Amino acid sequence: MSENLHILVLHGPNLNLLGTREPDIYGRTTLAEIDRLLSSHAKDASCDISCAQSTHEGVLIDRIQQAASEVDGILINPAGLTHTSVSLRDALAATGLPIVEVHLSNVFTRESFRHQSYVSGVALGVISGLGVPGYVLGLEALIGHLRDR
Ligand code: DQA
Repeated sequence: MSENLHILVLHGPNLNLLGTREPDIYGRTTLAEIDRLLSSHAKDASCDISCAQSTHEGVLIDRIQQAASEVDGILINPAGLTHTSVSLRDALAATGLPIVEVHLSNVFTRESFRHQSYVSGVALGVISGLGVPGYVLGLEALIGHLRDR
């Protein structure tokens, strides 16, 4: 039997505050609840996932570099770094892994500075505006892509 797929789930700055952070935009689900939901879906799909959050760009980049040789794909909500970080994009691109970018809110209906993503150009696909189910859809799409290889 083949080994389980392994997926890294990364959450960027301020997503540790989910549940209380601007709930009209981001909802009331906490990050721990999102991670539990993703872990349960991954288990059903015989897939291993590791979830991590950091408010520090360098910590996220270190984790991505480490993951390059350990995982099959990355699901990431880069949060505010989406719109600012060439370095995060470069780290993701350097892995050569399939990347799915997810946002809880619809960034295209918000401020114009959120319309630009440095990550989308190196992503397999982007899900934006579907709330927590968007994470699950992103995970399922990534697993489907990896199984179809
Ligand atoms: C976000 C959207 C970003 O613009 C914002 O900076 C976030 C969260 C989202 O999930 O909707 O922190 O990535």
